Amino acid sequence: MKLLVTGGAGFIGSAVVRRAIADGHEVVNLDALTYAACLANLASVADDPRYSFVKADIRDRAALDAALARHRPDAIMHLAAESHVDRSIDGPASFIETNVLGTFHLLEAARAYWQAEGQPEGFRFHHVSTDEVFGSLGAEGQFTEATPYDPRSPYSASKAGSDHLVRAWHETYGLPVVMTNCSNNYGPFHFPEKLVPVVILNALEGQPIPVYGRGENVRDWLYVEDHADALLTVIRRGAPGRSYNIGGENEARNIDLVRMICALLDEARPAPRPREELITFVADRPGHDLRYAIDPSRIATELGWRPSVTLEEGLRRTVAWFLDNEPWWQALRDRAGLGQRLGLSA
Ligand SMILES: NC(=O)c1ccc[n+]([C@@H]2O[C@H](COP(=O)([O-])OP(=O)(O)OC[C@H]3O[C@@H](n4cnc5c(N)ncnc54)[C@H](O)[C@@H]3O)[C@@H](O)[C@H]2O)c1
Repeated sequence: MKLLVTGGAGFIGSAVVRRAIADGHEVVNLDALTYAACLANLASVADDPRYSFVKADIRDRAALDAALARHRPDAIMHLAAESHVDRSIDGPASFIETNVLGTFHLLEAARAYWQAEGQPEGFRFHHVSTDEVFGSLGAEGQFTEATPYDPRSPYSASKAGSDHLVRAWHETYGLPVVMTNCSNNYGPFHFPEKLVPVVILNALEGQPIPVYGRGENVRDWLYVEDHADALLTVIRRGAPGRSYNIGGENEARNIDLVRMICALLDEARPAPRPREELITFVADRPGHDLRYAIDPSRIATELGWRPSVTLEEGLRRTVAWFLDNEPWWQALRDRAGLGQRLGLSA
């Protein structure tokens, strides 16, 4: 298949591009290269003849039309987004512009392209979204594909808006879309402003490890390479108009996740004192959702997909990757304003 992947220079997008090339697909990576992009994530495929790159913004309709006409993909996998909740609290405008308006322009460009190509049956527009659109759970229950939307941050509201547009383009125009809503990802190449890399790097350097509130928030952690595998399963076999929840079957409280990372680092790089002594509780994020949990039964029963690693194994691989790839994260941390969480001022 020839795939046009938006946001392929980001954390998850680059995992999808690497995996798609390994699986024998052709990939056109369309990315605006915002602060969150890192082309070094794609060093292993950059010289592959099946890989190409287009620098373009999804809000630029003319650039989207030109890329589609030139590359004529069999499917579009849409991952480009503003993705950091804390940034959305401090400055929501770019989240609305990219996640809502950008998705609108991409849908319109895809619709025009699909119609011009004679509406090929196998064409897919795959929209990658988040479980955060479903809001917050109490101690019990899981999100299914039928859970009503209840977004609570500017980020999740902008993703919810884009999900609604994608569904409407299917119902109204018949565009063959598939949608996925996944839980929190972690793994190699994770941008160093997000929780898991912040914990690894602060712990490594003996710096305080900031944990929101009392660390009681629960997330369902998904190893990024498992997520890429799930997305490629859905693009090949997902039914048009259908959405699939993707989870790691790995629920953990933030405080337990942080302790696990500290223990793995203590094992890999022994320090004079246990690193969990560096944990520092900080004022909670406004509107911080208590718990997310995914019911993954649809993707398991209909498409036969299950995550391949436990949280402990995934974290072990992630910690080892960060220890082995210091030049990668040092270069990103040297960009202004990173290595800290940003929403605390709101
Ligand atoms: N990271 C997670 O845990 C998670 C969980 C669920 C869903 N998602 C979703 O998965 C997708 C990818 O997330 P990520 O963590 O890899 O994000 P990321 O922030 O690491 O990467 C986003 C990429 O999109 C590009 N981009 C941003 N705005 C653009 C624009 N206007 N035009 C073109 N390119 C643009 C950036 O340059 C970057 O390369 C997003 O849609 C996000 O909402 C992420």
